[in-house]
Amino acid sequence: PKIGVLLGGRSAEREVSLRTGEAVYQALQAIGYDAVKIDVDKRITENLKRQNIDLAFIALHGKYGEDGTIQGLLEMLDIPYTGSKVLASAIAINKITTKKILLYEGLPTPEFFTITRSEYINTADNISAKIMSMGLPVVIKAPTQGSTIGTSFVHLQDEIRGAIEHAFQYDPTIMVEKMIDGIEITASVLGNETPEVLPLIEIFSTTGVYDYTAKYTVGLSNHIIPPRLPDSVQQTIKDLAYKTYLAIGCRGLSRVDFMVDQNGQPYILEVNTIPGMTETSLFPDAARAAGIDFETLVAKVVELAME
Ligand code: DAL
Ligand code: MG
Repeated sequence: PKIGVLLGGRSAEREVSLRTGEAVYQALQAIGYDAVKIDVDKRITENLKRQNIDLAFIALHGKYGEDGTIQGLLEMLDIPYTGSKVLASAIAINKITTKKILLYEGLPTPEFFTITRSEYINTADNISAKIMSMGLPVVIKAPTQGSTIGTSFVHLQDEIRGAIEHAFQYDPTIMVEKMIDGIEITASVLGNETPEVLPLIEIFSTTGVYDYTAKYTVGLSNHIIPPRLPDSVQQTIKDLAYKTYLAIGCRGLSRVDFMVDQNGQPYILEVNTIPGMTETSLFPDAARAAGIDFETLVAKVVELAME
């Protein structure tokens, strides 16, 4: 079959997508697939029709790629595609919607509240007071962005205003989340109805924060496999990742990100339905730890799309 690798796109994570897409394209070619790269721009519908592909491998991150929109277009055009369908993609792109579902399912996620633009304009002082009563540090996030874009870690009252305004540059409703003091863990999940949770990874950033720079600069973050956590805690995280994947309705692959506090209590932060596949990315490392090399992983994602 002819596979179109959809990459680039219009989101703030365009550069990351180009790297994911290139890696996927190389792997597909090495496996022997007839692969073509398709940069997603305004002419995407015509391009998809003209290329006459049998399957779209979606290597896009963020808006118009990971959020259900391109998935909807592909449904309309009757082109099969990798990963999650429209609804799961649309849910997972938004950290607020995701957290509401997690709460409904009784799955642990850090305490949070949301702020709309008009609430901020009319009641900025109340919001600041609400944040102070939640207790610093907090994380202020633009809920539909990835790779830490639009996110600020707030330790001081003076930083609140700037963090809120930064998040509003990306989304009209933003969120304030209690910062969990502990270690960051990610669970890579692969499969459809009965997915497999791959080995967990502990993320250790040499810069102290796992932000955009630390994520995509070689040498700035370490992936520790297995994490330095008791087996029982690791098992709990794996169970939570599995339940989260099914609760959101993911397909193919997704990465569930966690913070684990000092008492060993895990909290789910978010779900990435199109996890990065760059050379510094987490998912390919988790697969490797399970004995699945990059090409085999890419082949598996293609097979899962055709199931
Ligand atoms: N949002 C980036 C691509 C990730 O989760 O890997
Ligand atoms: Mg993300």
